[in-house]
Amino acid sequence: MTGERILILDFGGQYDQLIARRVREMQIYCELRPCTMSIDEIKAFGPSGIIFTGGPHSVYEEGAPTVDSAVFDLGTPILGICYGCQLLAKLLGGEVEPARSAGAREYGKTETEFNSGSPLLRGMGQRSVTWMSHGDYISRLPEGFVPLARSASCPTAAIGDEHRRFYGVQFHPEVRHTEEGSLLLHNFLYEVCALHGNWTMESYRETAVRELREKIGSGRVLLALSGGVDSSVCAALLDEAVGERLTCVFVDHGLLRKDEGDQVEAAFAGRKLRFLRVDAGKRFLGRLKGVRKPEEKRKRIGEEFIRVFEEESRKLGTIEYLAQGTIYPDVIESGAGSAAVIKSHHNVGGLPAEVGFRGIVEPLRSLFKDEVRKLGRELDLPESLVSRQPFPGPGLAIRIIGTVTAEKLAILREADAIFREEMAAAGLQGTADQYFAALTNMRSVGVMGDGRSYDCAVALRAVSTEDFMTADWTRLPYDFLDRVSVRICNEVPGVNRVLYDITSKPPATVEYE
Ligand code: XMP
Repeated sequence: MTGERILILDFGGQYDQLIARRVREMQIYCELRPCTMSIDEIKAFGPSGIIFTGGPHSVYEEGAPTVDSAVFDLGTPILGICYGCQLLAKLLGGEVEPARSAGAREYGKTETEFNSGSPLLRGMGQRSVTWMSHGDYISRLPEGFVPLARSASCPTAAIGDEHRRFYGVQFHPEVRHTEEGSLLLHNFLYEVCALHGNWTMESYRETAVRELREKIGSGRVLLALSGGVDSSVCAALLDEAVGERLTCVFVDHGLLRKDEGDQVEAAFAGRKLRFLRVDAGKRFLGRLKGVRKPEEKRKRIGEEFIRVFEEESRKLGTIEYLAQGTIYPDVIESGAGSAAVIKSHHNVGGLPAEVGFRGIVEPLRSLFKDEVRKLGRELDLPESLVSRQPFPGPGLAIRIIGTVTAEKLAILREADAIFREEMAAAGLQGTADQYFAALTNMRSVGVMGDGRSYDCAVALRAVSTEDFMTADWTRLPYDFLDRVSVRICNEVPGVNRVLYDITSKPPATVEYE
């Protein structure tokens, strides 16, 4: 997209995506690619700088991941992080050893001393806390390298060859626990690689629109619009690129939150594109009748969605392209492929290729979520849509434990709307990354007025997280929770108890099913 590109070679570390996000936040385009990339592929990528990530291995382990040494002949600056630092040292002729004593291994926050005028460390204090996680250390530096930082048990916490612009850090600059990590990464990009930072959503918009026009030509495009951030931004971008040759099919499966369907429709009302709303709530409820098991619910919703979508697209005649709102984390995650399936996520944008199109367009494929939101603002989408928290494809069906009925949906919609309304009124939206109400399958005894009730329990869930892979429950103020609880019990018939979920992920997941 721009001339400035950082290549992040992936050695399997747990913070790899975070490195890519940090680089993008600093307005430099980057891609995370497998370390098995050939030297020709690396050259074709044309990196302005290369970062080797951390990884779970030891460089001397049999089959430990490595990289073609020709990468050191490209004249490109390199930053190795943790395993990447050890690998760089080993491949360039240094020595790496397992830390013999437990004291020499470092895990967690570590006081580190920086002692050089290297451009990598410009503006950094003499001492600060870094986040370490390593069992090996560099016992002999390769030729041309000098130590740039030390900790109590590691004299080579950072190393550098200023002449060749090769650097390594034993700690993780990408995690927030490393106090000056962002500055160090910034220095690598702006001081060492001498980049200017021209990766902005304004430039992305221009390039993406041009590329979409080139690819689609005079063809027509179909987009499955879920109303989520990704597909909405995808729609707005395609609207700009091809206007009325875009048709958006919005399958309202009846499992949306209160007023959500109307809001989605309103957001696209003034645009040139063709917007088709299919009210399929009854069909979906029919398919879900009596179904209790979470995976079965997900499967049926996914299948029904495709069926409705196929029927609608058949009615529209020949359409050459199918657009999907795939974003970068989806691409990275499907590349990894070995993670256990905890829940089969049904992304309503993720239709199978065999629907019979000439091609697929995925204009958000290289963007992170926060970038997608920025692009949405750039494209004048309403803030309510752009800053929308994640909402699962199967919708409220997986927030109702057990069977789904119209009555339960109505209860949940109201309770959830009250919770969200109160979060906004209290200015608490920023404190949680996702919050919602769920309907438990529990009924319990209560007393309302002078009478006994035997009604449902609603659970409130709010989580704070960076990546949704792990999450902590959000400490919402008691008085606030009290207000929400009182309102729900007073205003939503059928509810006499409100619970607040205080479980992190793991062991729980964010959603209930
Ligand atoms: P879990 O429940 O797995 O959720 O901890 C992590 C994040 O993913 C969202 N989620 C989904 N998103 N289709 C989606 O598009 C799904 O089937 C799905 N299930 C969970 C969830 O809301 C949370 O943000």
